[in-house]
Amino acid sequence: MDLFVSKLLLLLALIGCSAGQTIPTVDAVLGGSVTLNSAAPVPPYTVLFWTFSDGVNKPVNIVTVTGGTPKVHTSYAARAAVNVSSGSLTLNPLSSGDSGDYTLTVLPTVGDSTTDEVKLRVLVPISDVVITSNLSELIEYNSTVALNCSAKGSLLRFDWFNGSDPLVLDAGRMALTKGRAFSALSITGVLRTDLTRSVSCEASNSLQRMRSGAFNLTVFYGPDPVALSPPTVAPFISSSSSFNLSCWTTSSPPATLSWFHNQLPVAGAGSVLTLQTLRDNGLGAALDNYTCVASNAKTQRSAVSTVVSFAVMDPVAGARLIGPNATLLAGNSTANLSCQALGRVATREWSKDGKALLAGPRLTLSGDGSWLLISPVQKDDNGEFQCNLSNAVSSGSGRYRMVVSFGPEQAKVSGPSKVEENHAVTLSCSSASVPAASFTWKHNGSATGSSSDTLTIPTPQLKDSGTYTCEAFNPVTGSTSACTHVLQVKAQGTLDGLSDGAIAGIVVGILVAIGAAVAVTIYCRQKIPVESPY
Ligand SMILES: *[C@@H]1O[C@H](CO)[C@@H](O)[C@H](O)[C@H]1NC(C)=O
Ligand SMILES: *[C@@H]1O[C@H](CO)[C@@H](O)[C@H](O)[C@H]1NC(C)=O
Ligand SMILES: *[C@@H]1O[C@H](CO)[C@@H](O)[C@H](O)[C@H]1NC(C)=O
Ligand SMILES: *[C@@H]1O[C@H](CO)[C@@H](O)[C@H](O)[C@H]1NC(C)=O
Ligand SMILES: *[C@@H]1O[C@H](CO)[C@@H](O)[C@H](O)[C@H]1NC(C)=O
Ligand SMILES: *[C@@H]1O[C@H](CO)[C@@H](O)[C@H](O)[C@H]1NC(C)=O
Ligand SMILES: *[C@@H]1O[C@H](CO)[C@@H](O)[C@H](O)[C@H]1NC(C)=O
Ligand SMILES: *[C@@H]1O[C@H](CO)[C@@H](O)[C@H](O)[C@H]1NC(C)=O
Ligand SMILES: *[C@@H]1O[C@H](CO)[C@@H](O)[C@H](O)[C@H]1NC(C)=O
Ligand SMILES: *[C@@H]1O[C@H](CO)[C@@H](O)[C@H](O)[C@H]1NC(C)=O
Ligand SMILES: *[C@@H]1O[C@H](CO)[C@@H](O)[C@H](O)[C@H]1NC(C)=O
Ligand SMILES: *[C@@H]1O[C@H](CO)[C@@H](O)[C@H](O)[C@H]1NC(C)=O
Repeated sequence: MDLFVSKLLLLLALIGCSAGQTIPTVDAVLGGSVTLNSAAPVPPYTVLFWTFSDGVNKPVNIVTVTGGTPKVHTSYAARAAVNVSSGSLTLNPLSSGDSGDYTLTVLPTVGDSTTDEVKLRVLVPISDVVITSNLSELIEYNSTVALNCSAKGSLLRFDWFNGSDPLVLDAGRMALTKGRAFSALSITGVLRTDLTRSVSCEASNSLQRMRSGAFNLTVFYGPDPVALSPPTVAPFISSSSSFNLSCWTTSSPPATLSWFHNQLPVAGAGSVLTLQTLRDNGLGAALDNYTCVASNAKTQRSAVSTVVSFAVMDPVAGARLIGPNATLLAGNSTANLSCQALGRVATREWSKDGKALLAGPRLTLSGDGSWLLISPVQKDDNGEFQCNLSNAVSSGSGRYRMVVSFGPEQAKVSGPSKVEENHAVTLSCSSASVPAASFTWKHNGSATGSSSDTLTIPTPQLKDSGTYTCEAFNPVTGSTSACTHVLQVKAQGTLDGLSDGAIAGIVVGILVAIGAAVAVTIYCRQKIPVESPY
């Protein structure tokens, strides 16, 4: 170093000490290049030179430009270059020892010398950004984990990411600790939601940034409360249904689900409890309690469903109402109707011809409603009996048509009492009877040959006047009922207009009607026909 420069350096050192202004800083990567510029344009000069100080050793000269010719110091040979017009210094490649203060001194052709100072920081490049965890598997709520993001490089700053978003610290449970080359994230009582997306960490300085690989943390959790499908169950389940009860829960790893019957495991039941499983285990007959238990081997936790109570019941099958096949006689026979079905029957309801059955002195219903005794049967018992059986899961019904033979009851003949010659006349006879009665007609005691319930005389003659007797006969009861009717056949033209009877009816009114009714009652007798007084 020549004497001139040495003097200058001394001078500048004094100036620098007295100045105390903030010095601009330039960062550059180790192994890379940097160009240090003068803060102000360099005026025409006679001498320009750069010196370096690492703050420990004496400042050293890097390059000196005199007469437009740069001269690089041997220790910087091939690493330093100066732009003679701008005065900027380029160092390439940078070594770790290049960090320090660089001073540019210019002796202008006119005026005083000037100095310009720049601080250079040579940064180690960022590499090896990795996240490590002190635990590989975490248990929700229990685990406290420390994630350490470390990196190589200078002047590092660390940022954590949750997926692509910056990680938001839950202040209560999460804490960051920063070191020179790492950032540690500790999470107390880790939650499944904390790290659902992969975590990453970015190390950066003023020149570079580098992201770690995505780090997946496995947080085991659950089982959560156990849900049932269907959520509610009727107390009785039909054994013929496709009923099943399944349970599920949220859990990682998936929970093991099993069914319990009164606190004992139900063999063969996974998450779905089927009727077949119940049958296989001999269960279902009683109203018992069932629960589903979920357990997670990793978290060593378990959850129990709500208690479900039910019994399996066979539906009512083959419902039938059985009554007597034999002929039933009103007032004499007894009928026992029996209402039967397979399966457990809870209720039986009886009805006749669609109306609820009323018990009475003749009708005895057994306590469980399984049979009905009618003693004796009467004609009103004719009709359809129905018995409805039901239990909690189904219903059925049986029918029986009861036929009670009776009658014939008092026969009645209807028809005119007077008729004109050659005017057709029809008499009809009726009598309530089961089975239907057969009829025979007599005229003044002699058979007429008609066996229908009506007797028609197409051309009545005067001789056809007299007493007509209708006889009704029931072949099952063997009973007969008879009724007589007096018919007068009159000469043609004598009954023109209103008949005598009708006139009498109009004149005497209701008295005659009553009289006629009384007359019929007198003339009609059961079984034995009365001799006509005419
Ligand atoms: C030197 O600096 C001047 C002015 O800044 C510029 O125009 C020129 O290109 C530079 N020369 C070299 C060799 O970099
Ligand atoms: C992991 O780090 C956390 C936080 O420093 C600590 O509480 C926990 O005990 C560590 N676990 C293990 C297995 O080292
Ligand atoms: C993080 O890792 C770095 C590099 O392995 C280590 O120097 C540092 O001590 C670790 N920090 C913690 C908190 O474990
Ligand atoms: C990460 O992102 C998920 C989804 O957005 C969020 O639920 C979770 O709370 C976040 N975790 C942290 C630590 O920010
Ligand atoms: C981490 O998880 C994400 C999303 O689940 C997945 O895409 C990625 O492959 C996982 N990375 C590793 C290293 O397991
Ligand atoms: C459970 O019941 C549902 C509806 O009755 C049916 O669709 C399903 O097949 C049943 N599952 C099993 C396993 O029996
Ligand atoms: C079923 O559970 C109920 C309460 O949920 C309890 O009162 C009852 O005794 C249990 N029945 C059986 C058979 O365990
Ligand atoms: C979680 O913590 C609870 C209470 O602190 C403890 O009883 C349980 O054993 C822990 N579970 C695991 C899997 O370590
Ligand atoms: C009624 O008759 C049927 C067949 O006609 C028979 O199966 C049934 O046993 C009989 N009932 C009685 C009570 O005799
Ligand atoms: C009524 O029943 C009795 C026996 O129960 C029988 O002796 C009698 O002949 C029956 N009467 C008639 C009219 O069928
Ligand atoms: C009616 O019939 C049922 C079934 O056959 C029988 O159990 C019951 O004892 C009978 N009742 C009477 C009064 O005979
Ligand atoms: C029996 O069931 C039928 C059809 O289910 C119904 O119409 C009838 O009213 C029921 N009778 C009684 C007595 O419950």
